[in-house]
Amino acid sequence: MYLHCLVLSLAFGRVSAAGTCCYKSIMENLKLTDDNFQMKSIRPVYDSKTPTDVYVDLFVTSITDVNEKAQSISTQVIFEALWNNEFIEWKQEDFCQTSKISLKKDTIWIPDIVIAESIKTEFANVENPYVKMNSDGSVYMYETLTLSSACKMDLINFPFDVQTCNLTIHSPMHSSDELTLNPWSDSLFLTSSSQNAFQTQGEWELLSINTSISHVSSLGYYEDQLIYKITLKRRPLLYVITFISPVFCFLVLDLASYFIDAGGGEKLSFKVTLLLSMSVLLLILNDKLPSTANEVPWIGVYCSLIFILIGISILETILVNFLMARGEQILRSQAPIDSTSAVTDAVMNSDENPAERRCLYWTRAARIVDIIAVILYIITIMVFLPIMYYAWFMASVT
Ligand SMILES: *[C@@H]1O[C@H](CO)[C@@H](O)[C@H](O)[C@H]1NC(C)=O
Repeated sequence: MYLHCLVLSLAFGRVSAAGTCCYKSIMENLKLTDDNFQMKSIRPVYDSKTPTDVYVDLFVTSITDVNEKAQSISTQVIFEALWNNEFIEWKQEDFCQTSKISLKKDTIWIPDIVIAESIKTEFANVENPYVKMNSDGSVYMYETLTLSSACKMDLINFPFDVQTCNLTIHSPMHSSDELTLNPWSDSLFLTSSSQNAFQTQGEWELLSINTSISHVSSLGYYEDQLIYKITLKRRPLLYVITFISPVFCFLVLDLASYFIDAGGGEKLSFKVTLLLSMSVLLLILNDKLPSTANEVPWIGVYCSLIFILIGISILETILVNFLMARGEQILRSQAPIDSTSAVTDAVMNSDENPAERRCLYWTRAARIVDIIAVILYIITIMVFLPIMYYAWFMASVT
């Protein structure tokens, strides 16, 4: 019976007593044949009251995409599981110290473990065809998975936000007195190993992975759930450069446009250009943020506040232009000939006639409106920007 093994081991020049170094001899000893129904499909315990303890590890090795609009996250994870198979046991001494065998997944029972949040799970390479079996009966399984999972994201502090996403591992078919799920490694090891194995340096930084077990009642029985809480922090620099500072720059430019001569149309067209630039940035923001209206993100408040301020300042400019034009109109109706020099003359010596005095009245009103508007503008900015800074940026730091 072992002749085949003996020939093989002799052919490879090994000195072996009985040919028992062959994997096949262990398999035959365990009766692990293709048609062994017990090994393949029955939970490997002698007493059906005994639960199978499954130890699970999950490492996050890449974060490839975080989609705020769809509230989903794409990751690459390494999934490991270890459980005890009571039907498997052999004495290492009898089989020349062979302590482990790898064998095809479909020859023995493996636990049905799924990730509850998964939208789509794929094998990163090919599905690993093997499991590893140790002489004491423990079976080990390893997979690299590409995982796209749902994650509720709170974007109120965007882009200074920290997100936590849960990956819940459970067995859909087995209750907790049939199958128990336990974390294999502790959170500290999971976090440091994941950070060391991290393959991408993208927008997101992995802060920690925490594990917790919960017993959940579902359909009348209790099931074990192993929750991996993954905490991610966004690197905000890109958004500061391409978004927050340009918007702030528009605000400063709008303030500076106070010094442009209000007489011509330039001031107005300058401000309208600023408003148009703002709306381009708002379109980009619209692509990024989800349309959940529960809480308005601070970045939305910031943008709309500045948008509204620029809008109001355009209205104010229109008003000032109107007042000035009114003054000029009065003067022009008085002195139709040589109107341009007449305006300046009228301002110089104002007590000459009532028309000139009325013109001066309009011009002065325009100037007062302009000054009051600028003061109100500055006060609004000085009140709102610090409040926003504390609520938005400081809240996310602590
Ligand atoms: C994640 O799991 C924790 C329990 O560890 C729970 O309190 C929390 O609500 C879960 N978060 C989400 C978004 O489901």
